[in-house]
Amino acid sequence: LDSTITLNNGVKMPRLGMGVWKINNAGASQSVQWAIKHGYRAIDTAKQYGNEAGVGQGLTKGLADNNMKREDIFLTTKIFNGDQGYESTLEAFEDQLKRLQTDYVDLLLIHWPVDGKYLDTWRALEKIYHEGKARAIGVSNFNITRLKTILKNGSVKPTINQMEFHPLCQEEDIRNYCEQRNIQFEAWSPLGGGKVLNDERLKKIAAKYNKSVAQIILRWDLQQNVITIPKSVHEERLIQNTQIFDFELSNEDVQEINTYDNEARDLWYSGFYWHGNPTGMKDSVKQWN
Ligand code: A2P
Repeated sequence: LDSTITLNNGVKMPRLGMGVWKINNAGASQSVQWAIKHGYRAIDTAKQYGNEAGVGQGLTKGLADNNMKREDIFLTTKIFNGDQGYESTLEAFEDQLKRLQTDYVDLLLIHWPVDGKYLDTWRALEKIYHEGKARAIGVSNFNITRLKTILKNGSVKPTINQMEFHPLCQEEDIRNYCEQRNIQFEAWSPLGGGKVLNDERLKKIAAKYNKSVAQIILRWDLQQNVITIPKSVHEERLIQNTQIFDFELSNEDVQEINTYDNEARDLWYSGFYWHGNPTGMKDSVKQWN
């Protein structure tokens, strides 16, 4: 299994990255430095996480300490709901670059589809892409209807749709739709925020392979061509989560895990996702910042 996937615009993206949701600036800086040291080549953040500055610090320090260059890391960030719209996206993105201490990102996503605005936001992303300040652009949390709207009205095809995805939330319809259109599917909360790790069925499978449940889930992602970005603030777990390229799940076990789907989306977010309620998101931003 190759460690990277080629996106529909030819850019190569690592199949495994580290996510930093729910980590503060200091923690993000530390996790990014550990991640770089232990072989991660992709980092995923967002303005909404309130830790772009920490990621920027960790990135600058981690690259210097490991004698690496900016091009060695695939950096993703996302446009905050409150910044959506054409001009406001362009403006906000410049600040995001400053906080991240870089002059480009590898991937820029619309974080959530704010109805009535996401098309204007997409046009701003297209401009940023054409200017070379984002090597690839894409979306997050877009259902099929909204993906269709982007494909119909946009002039650049999204490279990525990043969604909640784990054994209890498999989004089969959206994944199939994306696959047919060569839009790469990426998982947020691949471990279900940690909740899926206690599943007795997965524990049994893990024992068979002498791996942890986290490693089984992340390997299952890879074998289904899903890009995955687990989060951890513990160095030993960050290391553990990279050790997924040295074994293979049998077809039977992949199929078995495929039967675990029960559409168990993160409850708070599912409201926004289905009803497009950006007001709710404001509360969440307070919560995480
Ligand atoms: P922590 O950050 O304290 O290590 P997700 O990526 O689905 O959001 O899940 C992240 C959650 O899973 C975090 O609570 C993280 O805890 C935990 N986690 C990440 N990797 C592992 C692991 N290998 N073993 C156990 N828990 C893990």
